[in-house]
Amino acid sequence: MISAETIDRVRESADIVEIIGEHVKLRRAGADFRGPCPFHGGKNPNFSVSPRRGQYHCFKCGVSGDAISFVRERLGLDFAEAVRYVAARSGIEVKEERRGEQAADPREPLWEANAAAASYFRDVLWTEDEAKPARDYLASRDIDKPAADRFELGYAPRDGARLRTHLNAMGYDDARLLAAGLLVQREGQDEPRSRFWGRLMIPIHDASGRHVGFGGRVLGDGEPKYLNSAESEIFIKGRLLYGMSSARHAVRKADRALVVEGYFDAIRLVLAGVEETIAPLGTALTEQQAALLAKLTKNVFLLYDSDEAGLKATFRAGLQLLEQGVSARVASLPEGEDPDTFVRAHGAKGLEAQLAHAIDIFDRQILELQRRGWFDELHKKRRAIDRLLPTLRATADAVTRDIYIARLAEVSGVDRDVLVRELAAPDPRARGRGASVAAPGAARNERVDRAPMREDGPPDGVVFVEPRRPPEAFDRERFRGRDRGGERRRGFRRTDDWASSHAVARVSPSARVTAAEKGLVQAMLQDHGQVEIVVERWGPEHFHHPVYRRIFERLLLTADASLEALADGLTSSEIDIVNQLVAEPLPNPGTQVRAWLRRLQLRAIDEERDRVNAMLMDPEHPLSDAEKDALVARKQQLNADRAALMQS
Ligand code: UTP
Ligand code: MN
Repeated sequence: MISAETIDRVRESADIVEIIGEHVKLRRAGADFRGPCPFHGGKNPNFSVSPRRGQYHCFKCGVSGDAISFVRERLGLDFAEAVRYVAARSGIEVKEERRGEQAADPREPLWEANAAAASYFRDVLWTEDEAKPARDYLASRDIDKPAADRFELGYAPRDGARLRTHLNAMGYDDARLLAAGLLVQREGQDEPRSRFWGRLMIPIHDASGRHVGFGGRVLGDGEPKYLNSAESEIFIKGRLLYGMSSARHAVRKADRALVVEGYFDAIRLVLAGVEETIAPLGTALTEQQAALLAKLTKNVFLLYDSDEAGLKATFRAGLQLLEQGVSARVASLPEGEDPDTFVRAHGAKGLEAQLAHAIDIFDRQILELQRRGWFDELHKKRRAIDRLLPTLRATADAVTRDIYIARLAEVSGVDRDVLVRELAAPDPRARGRGASVAAPGAARNERVDRAPMREDGPPDGVVFVEPRRPPEAFDRERFRGRDRGGERRRGFRRTDDWASSHAVARVSPSARVTAAEKGLVQAMLQDHGQVEIVVERWGPEHFHHPVYRRIFERLLLTADASLEALADGLTSSEIDIVNQLVAEPLPNPGTQVRAWLRRLQLRAIDEERDRVNAMLMDPEHPLSDAEKDALVARKQQLNADRAALMQS
């Protein structure tokens, strides 16, 4: 038996469009996707798939369900098999549990201990004299009791022994409290004591709402301002987003997420009704965090502090998001304001106005460089472009990337093609510069993104950063020009290359020529009038056999029918083949040509369809929505072409 929790998790992380897209030709229709219903076998796009709700529905025959029920019905799987099938697509491990047994997640006792501590801290906050400064502090920040309770805010008493006594009495032993990160055993101390004392406590949950740790804010001055739970098996900062468990549904619903820097920023926005707000835990946005968001929405607004450090963090977060195919927009707040103070003063309405003026991350970077005069001076321009290339490289969505390139060409006055070439060149800065990339979960607890800037940054400290992915891997994956795999991928990721690259047949020197390829060339050789007919529908790039491809090319180039002109540029063995082809009798070249062309066209369509399918299903290279849409649309076109050809 699979636990209900696991099933929920599988359901929630399933990419229903991708899963159904493997069986139904889907096309985007607003927020949903439409296609012919596979259940009643209709031809019209009555079958709707909603990625937001994770559901499909046919308006004609009325079937509906989720990703799990879809594969169950379509692939004839039983329920557990269907869950496993869907789970495998999102990399979730499904463990069997015997009926009646408790879900035996080894982390359960730690979540439980943290939950118990949260409730203790909360009691202390509202019932004890000692906590008055904490209550006053909350009041000063405009957070009343119902609001505080919504976030389970609490207070850790100054006496570090009390938490232990309390939880021990409830049956939580020291080993468990130490493992949960609630107690610490300091050297020279007999007994473990609370990690947190005299702090305002902010419980942190994972995406499923389990208590994984705390952020503890100092009251008044003191260092650190925020003390977080130590990294542990349940508290991995780089994978958690503050507010995620409650924001998740709001993010899906609003189809956008707001990323803010601080706990209090997140709390304020949620209280103001902007529930789709989350915050990283004091570190730069990591790849995992960006991926977590990308599953829920492709629209992210970054609302960081308006200072230099905030801008740097913004750009870094932007890169991570672009890498996940998410569009990142930057909302800026007036000098000196953070989202908390701003929303307190101007409300959600004021915030929406700022969001309406949010600037795309790439434009924001350009703006910053322009503001500092980097596009005015010739010698700086080159470096300004260098600063922007990492962003272009990071952008996974082909369409977005194209728009960015056009934008950069426009502002820099540098030719588009030159920029494209520059992009394809290996990034010299990505090499041997590991040191500037902060390690995720670095030992320094807080604010990895606020580390000093790279030494060789522009003198006035423009704050661009490279993506956090190790430069090596980054390079390898996208820009290994000579490698065939890399080239193929790069080709397919670019929309403009697309049409040409997928049309090119693979040439195999050892291939035996097909009757159709041979026949076409032969017909053209014997009856020069056929050349015109053939070239209208067929190009050399479609030939599998290199020799026939070359002869075909020569045929296209030679205006007259003389074999001498044709032989010019062919090798002697190729000329031998030409002679053979000319000598071999070929009855009715005209009628045969039509049949061969058709056969080759069908072959080309099928090959391309295979390639499109392979791209759509390649688990190693997830596609952006735009890319998927393009591929799905292409597949539909191919099917239509094929049907038309069959009827001709
Ligand atoms: P800020 O200093 O901007 O925090 O740091 P804030 O939430 O705005 O703080 P106040 O309470 O309004 O003054 C932003 C985030 O960085 C992390 C916390 O997650 C904080 O919310 N941080 C900051 C730390 O983890 N440790 C620190 O010492 C400081
Ligand atoms: Mn702040």
